[in-house]
Amino acid sequence: MTGRRTDLPLAARVGGRSSGGLVDLLALADRPEILSFAVGLPDPLLFDVDHLREAFDAALSGPGAGANLQYSAAEGLPRLRERVAALLTGEGMPTSPASVLVSTGSQQALTLVSTLLLDAGDVVLVEEPTYLAAIEPFRLAGARIVPVASDEDGIDPDALAKAMRTHRPRALYLCPTFANPTGRTLTAARRARVAELVLRHRVWLVEDEPYSRLRYDGDHLAPISADPRLADRSIYLGTFSKIGCPGLRIGWMRVPPAIMPSLAQVKQSADMHTSTLDQAAAAHYLAHADLEGHLRLVCEAYAARRDTMLDLAPGTFPTGTLVSRPTGGMFCWVRLPEGYDALELLPRALAAHVAYVPGAPFYAARPDPRTLRLCFSTYESSTIAEGMDRLAAVFAQTPTPTRPPTPKRTT
Ligand SMILES: Cc1ncc(COP(=O)(O)O)c(C=O)c1O
Repeated sequence: MTGRRTDLPLAARVGGRSSGGLVDLLALADRPEILSFAVGLPDPLLFDVDHLREAFDAALSGPGAGANLQYSAAEGLPRLRERVAALLTGEGMPTSPASVLVSTGSQQALTLVSTLLLDAGDVVLVEEPTYLAAIEPFRLAGARIVPVASDEDGIDPDALAKAMRTHRPRALYLCPTFANPTGRTLTAARRARVAELVLRHRVWLVEDEPYSRLRYDGDHLAPISADPRLADRSIYLGTFSKIGCPGLRIGWMRVPPAIMPSLAQVKQSADMHTSTLDQAAAAHYLAHADLEGHLRLVCEAYAARRDTMLDLAPGTFPTGTLVSRPTGGMFCWVRLPEGYDALELLPRALAAHVAYVPGAPFYAARPDPRTLRLCFSTYESSTIAEGMDRLAAVFAQTPTPTRPPTPKRTT
């Protein structure tokens, strides 16, 4: 959509941002003829529609219906907070309902965290690359984002220790399990080291875990926040979006009880509370539907799709391309050989009716133009195969670059 320009100023913190044309390009990926691996969409055909319908029916029936359409407490409905606390306790992190606040998706939780913790000029450490839409709320709060190196096993604890000493951060933001965009998982040993560093350097840990229940291989790893020594400094974010459906916009924060009153105040000023009706339906769903059974179905489907994508990757990308092998989540991370630029190639892919998201915007400092993210959860294997065929044709027709492109900043 092209809006008319205005001469009136915007706030300095938002003004002048540019996506380098990526937003416009990805808008094209929405066209129906395009097979898009770009956006992290769960498959809507796997949503548990019947049980969700029942949950909304229940929320709108009987004597409680009026209350479910009424204003409610900023912290969230007590029965949903109880369900979430039980869910987190079951994941190896003992949690009391009093430490849970219901957010409007975990995206809102990131904004609430930014308002609650960050003053202008504060440093937030993030792994490089990291979730693009976490960087934005931190920046809007005036924070300085300092990237820390990561590898196949997640954030590098030695680099983290050095960054903590050098930058004296206010917070560390991590997506430790099946990270967006890389699909990487922080190992148990590294989790323990991160916990030590958070303790020693007196920083807030913001642990964002939307994907941790989408595991296809290996064993569940306890969240870093499960370490009882971090009870007064960790904020854990979870969401219904990937285990259930994102349209409901139900997320949750597990916070130290001491900060709950301040967080509730910030939440209230943002949107009073998350939709009472949606919370009531989510609480009913978590109480009555077979979430574990549903997750087994979803994981089985997504694991097969990941395998299809990985099996086809060697025939799709040029020789020398590195493709990650995620043990869960929704994303494969691809690094093309020297000289390729994923952003420059995107228009060719779109012309071939296939889309991916270039990796560069996920870097807070020095983008790697050779990287791109592919989402494997959205389509069935046959459609993934068709999309990979289209991508293979794009690379087959792209001349091998002769010299490396100059790295560009994305912001
Ligand atoms: C790492 C991460 N955090 C937060 C979110 C936001 O999720 P939601 O607001 O749907 O709960 C996403 C969504 O893709 C994500 O990948």
